[in-house]
Amino acid sequence: MSDVKEPEAPTEDPEKSRAKFKAMIDGTKEDWTHIVTHAMKFNKGLADRVLGHLRLLDGDFGGFPVDRLQHSLQTATRAYRDGRDEEYVVCALLHDIGDTLGSYNHPDVAAAILKPFVSEKNHWMVTHHGVFQGYYFFDYIGLDKNLRDNFKDHPWYEYTAQFCHLYDQMAFDPDYESEPLEFFEPMVQRLFAVPKNSLYKAALDKNEAEAGE
Ligand SMILES: [Fe+2]
Ligand SMILES: [Fe+2]
Repeated sequence: MSDVKEPEAPTEDPEKSRAKFKAMIDGTKEDWTHIVTHAMKFNKGLADRVLGHLRLLDGDFGGFPVDRLQHSLQTATRAYRDGRDEEYVVCALLHDIGDTLGSYNHPDVAAAILKPFVSEKNHWMVTHHGVFQGYYFFDYIGLDKNLRDNFKDHPWYEYTAQFCHLYDQMAFDPDYESEPLEFFEPMVQRLFAVPKNSLYKAALDKNEAEAGE
């Protein structure tokens, strides 16, 4: 039996389950039991929050032939229909979710959201897809279309080039019949249910186990 106090179930009155400290230096084990209990509950809503943010791309054309949500759905649908696994398909769905807040580094936003839940390979692909996608248009905007060649010797160069070639740069067809967002929702829910890696994973796992005892 662990000597760590079990987290208390959240009370109906949020006032009663708040930490008492005014500065963290004064925090206690009890304070942090309240906070971790809330975090565990809040974290379960992550997939819904991600999906809600993805919906912000709806109707945002940015001069493209399809809006950014349709582009995301089309990228994911093409990957799905090509037999890619669920983690890959969710990466395809979310690869441009950073367009709303990361105007100058949108791949970094998607990569940060996905990082705890995906392989290093898929994380690298999402992080670098902007440079690889540039192969198809950078020369039209005064940039070097071969910028991706800086990664020529990287083991995931081809993997990322394929993502852009087969799915991302292909996903601007207004006549393509994509699956709706609802089709992908269960996949997003499953992927975001349990982090593979996170600074907080050990603490959350411990509390999850104790809560289930
Ligand atoms: Fe992108
Ligand atoms: Fe894209």
